[in-house]
Amino acid sequence: MKIILYYIATAATAITLFSSCGCSKLPIDSPVAFSSPNRPADTVVFAVIGDYGTDSKAEADVAAMVKSWQPEFVITTGDNNYPVGSSGSIVKNIGKHYCDFIYNPDAPSDRQCKGPAAEEKINRFFPCPGNHDNYSVPALRPYTDYFTLPGDERNYDFIWGTIHFFSLNTGVSGKLDERTIQWLQQKLKSGTARFKIVYFHHPPYSSGGHGSNEAMQLPFGEWGADAVLCGHDHFYERILDKNSPKPVYFIIGNSGNENLYSCNSKPLDTTRFTYNCDDKNYGAVKVKAGKNSCTFEYYTTANPSAPADVWVIVK
Ligand SMILES: [Fe+2]
Repeated sequence: MKIILYYIATAATAITLFSSCGCSKLPIDSPVAFSSPNRPADTVVFAVIGDYGTDSKAEADVAAMVKSWQPEFVITTGDNNYPVGSSGSIVKNIGKHYCDFIYNPDAPSDRQCKGPAAEEKINRFFPCPGNHDNYSVPALRPYTDYFTLPGDERNYDFIWGTIHFFSLNTGVSGKLDERTIQWLQQKLKSGTARFKIVYFHHPPYSSGGHGSNEAMQLPFGEWGADAVLCGHDHFYERILDKNSPKPVYFIIGNSGNENLYSCNSKPLDTTRFTYNCDDKNYGAVKVKAGKNSCTFEYYTTANPSAPADVWVIVK
């Protein structure tokens, strides 16, 4: 399979690679896959937000911008409900801003969303947990009580349009258990969707204060992932590994927490990585995916009329 990736915001580069697929099937039970109903395979538009759940002005501003895009659904890169993932703060941190997209019939009645997604009975909000969501006791109970998600609601996959998504729980400390890693590897290698996107909270590589998470430096590209989306460091960053042009890594952690982090607190090795970082703005990413291309556009609330960064994957 020939894959060409190019970056069109500031420069045009072309990288060609050939992927090989051993595709050994592992005897692992997987969470239940979820497919969207009757979705045309032409173009899907979805939004990515992260580190947002603080009920701040920044969260409200980003949510308004995201809604203006009229995305089909929203995914998150974690830290949905600061500070400790409690049931008492989950409505104001999440539902107040994003109920339009959430269908959560399994939630306690006082926490159920009543917006358009509930009316059509289609969930359009697919989070992954962050460390702050995992601080609840028991871990993630308010989160799994609130959301109605595929599989075990912690590690799950779903297909929407041309994309196969994998949402993972990296817990408090930024790692996966062995069973989840094997499940992910098997599903990525055997999946036949045009694009595969993996998302979780703790980034494999980051120039921010939290830095890179070695435990998450898995061979996502060899397994078939086109993009890895994370949060945790409160800024926007897009990273390419010169040794492995697939996947592209994004950190989208500036969608509401008003404590932005500095880029380059822990600079990445520029002999191996190229990266763009924005630590001055709040924002989110709009993704447009069709049959042959997947375009990531990063917008800030300071200038919502034009993307501040664009990355396109063409197959
Ligand atoms: Fe975090």
